[in-house]
Amino acid sequence: MLSSSIVLVLASVAFASKPSDSHAWQAPTAGQVRSPCPGLNTLANHGYIPRSGKGITIAEIMDGAVAGFNVGNTSILQAAKFGLLSGLAFDTLDLDALALHNLVEHDASISRQDWALGDNLHFNETLFSVMANINPGSDFCRK
Ligand SMILES: *[C@@H]1O[C@H](CO)[C@@H](O)[C@H](O)[C@H]1NC(C)=O
Ligand SMILES: *[C@@H]1O[C@H](CO)[C@@H](O)[C@H](O)[C@H]1NC(C)=O
Repeated sequence: MLSSSIVLVLASVAFASKPSDSHAWQAPTAGQVRSPCPGLNTLANHGYIPRSGKGITIAEIMDGAVAGFNVGNTSILQAAKFGLLSGLAFDTLDLDALALHNLVEHDASISRQDWALGDNLHFNETLFSVMANINPGSDFCRK
């Protein structure tokens, strides 16, 4: 998982702003695509970047990250620019193309399978549950 994705995951956990109607959560519909990065998916599901998940510009990612997570542009700019290499378009990317292994997506995700083992794009509840339940009774939020 890319380091910026970790930042965005943490930011999505702390997603505290009260979303306006235009930023209400909506699951992706048929034809809309999502990435291996939960943070980018959160931005798309809340309409801070195009809900289609397709044809997204670097400026849209930057603006979406600032508006949705209040994170500075510099923390994700490099990863976003690398993301352009995942497809053939000159200046846009599709979220699902970010599954291209070892560009910005890397193994050791807590919610996606390693590339060599299977699906590195979609959420895997089995894997996530293992991590979530690994230490029952512990409240990591208080430490
Ligand atoms: C982030 O980058 C975008 C795109 O260049 C720009 O429009 C926006 O003002 C920047 N936001 C901040 C907080 O720097
Ligand atoms: C989720 O990951 C586990 C462990 O790698 C694997 O056995 C399972 O087939 C995966 N589930 C899906 C739906 O890909």
